[in-house]
Amino acid sequence: MLVTENLTKLFDGFKALDGVSMKVDANSLTLIAGPNGSGKTTLINTICGFYKADGGHVFLNGEEITNMKPHEIRKRGIARTFQIPHPLKKLTVLENLLVAVAEHPGEKLLRCMRCSSWERAEADAVEKAFELLEFLELDALWDTEAYKLSGGQLKLLEVGRALMSDAKLIIMDEPLTGVNPKLAHCILEKLVELKKRTTFLIVEHRFEIVAAYVDRVFVMVNGRLADEKSEAFREVIRLLCFK
Ligand SMILES: Nc1ncnc2c1ncn2[C@@H]1O[C@H](COP(=O)(O)OP(=O)(O)OP(=O)(O)O)[C@@H](O)[C@H]1O
Ligand SMILES: [Mg+2]
Repeated sequence: MLVTENLTKLFDGFKALDGVSMKVDANSLTLIAGPNGSGKTTLINTICGFYKADGGHVFLNGEEITNMKPHEIRKRGIARTFQIPHPLKKLTVLENLLVAVAEHPGEKLLRCMRCSSWERAEADAVEKAFELLEFLELDALWDTEAYKLSGGQLKLLEVGRALMSDAKLIIMDEPLTGVNPKLAHCILEKLVELKKRTTFLIVEHRFEIVAAYVDRVFVMVNGRLADEKSEAFREVIRLLCFK
């Protein structure tokens, strides 16, 4: 579903991505592991158009999306979460989820003037948002502005925003940081359930939690994907199996 070919990103000559070629299968939960600074977030940012690639290609279901603008990539079906949460700080928790709905009919100039053309969609979105907030244990905070949330709650809000979208591919950058283990397992179980219609690519360091849910693993080292025979790759597999 997602293919990168020889993807390269330079920062002042430093190769943060050094020819990354990967394939992510549809309806899978794929993990990207790797030490701090190995290029995992840079890979996500380059796939999603937040960074301009200096070389290589990105394809989504066969269509080249390399260096498209983030909103164009979002329209094609990729939603992402951020390692450092990016909420709309002055909007409430509920509003943050509602703005994540793609292609809301009320956003069209002519349709927004006719309530009947968007009321139903909005009511459905509110219902879905409350279901997600309850699941993420954020429902009591639905009317709280995002800037008042704790670090862990902001991470959950990111997850909620991603799950509100009907994206074909959801990429999550360390979604479980600061989330209690019980809820983290519930979130991963939910992702597994949603794999029927969505594909997940996640970066996560908490192997003891993700191990049971992952279909495939890529390991990044110094901006490259580690070979499956390499010591770095085997070490990650050992840790995942051990946990
Ligand atoms: N905007 C930037 N400008 C300059 N250098 C950057 C930028 N973003 C990332 N880097 C560098 O690129 C390398 C990869 O960083 P990246 O954030 O992708 O690593 P990571 O694998 O996500 O690490 P972590 O596990 O700590 O989140 C690091 O050396 C980092 O300092
Ligand atoms: Mg990172």
